[in-house]
Amino acid sequence: MKMFLDTADLVEIEKWLSRGILDGITTNPSILKKAGVTEPMAAWKEIIALINTNSDQSLSLSVEVFCDEPDKMLDQARGFVKELNYAGTTIKIPILGIDGADRLAVIRSLSQDGIAVNCTACVTWLQAFAAAKAGARYVSLLYRRMIDVGLDARYMISKTRELLGEHQLGAEIIIGSIRKAEDVFDAYEAGGHIVTIPTKFMPEILFHQKSVDTQEQFLRDAGVIQ
Ligand code: E4P
Repeated sequence: MKMFLDTADLVEIEKWLSRGILDGITTNPSILKKAGVTEPMAAWKEIIALINTNSDQSLSLSVEVFCDEPDKMLDQARGFVKELNYAGTTIKIPILGIDGADRLAVIRSLSQDGIAVNCTACVTWLQAFAAAKAGARYVSLLYRRMIDVGLDARYMISKTRELLGEHQLGAEIIIGSIRKAEDVFDAYEAGGHIVTIPTKFMPEILFHQKSVDTQEQFLRDAGVIQ
């Protein structure tokens, strides 16, 4: 089980990195916009600096291309990798373009260059499986977006996991589009290797009233509280 944070909020990233529980960070254009980022490259460099300060590993940082045309995607992706100069750089490529065509050739080219690709916007097991076959290091299935259109999200995750194993593909499944704390538990249990979690759910997934009650009992018996 790996935990990524789905945010570009530097304060939250530092907070959770300092607790030592993160394995990566994911961003996309919508997340950058929400965080008020106007210069993505500068923001990604700040995230990398926080990772380097708080971890001795090059945790994965997903950065998404800002274009839709295959040749431009390749140029932009290679440019990001060069400028960030960080071993954890992971390029997010959506499985389909707005023309509806697959972007598997882009994924394959980048992967052949040794660039880690996170194929995003997948909502079916076949999309995720195809991306992994093309060489993606990560395949992102978007949990609530699957449910939004009536797809069986848990089945899509478990079938993808089964196929990755059956074909001995090394890709890991990232589950994004988490909109409730309970989604985190469901997504792991269905077979996601990684869940990328919006920061607002972090306190909630760690909380249980029984833990609070237990500590209260311990403090009462220690005479610290009445
Ligand atoms: C995918 O890149 C992300 O997880 C993204 O934040 C999607 O979340 P949403 O469906 O809640 O917008």
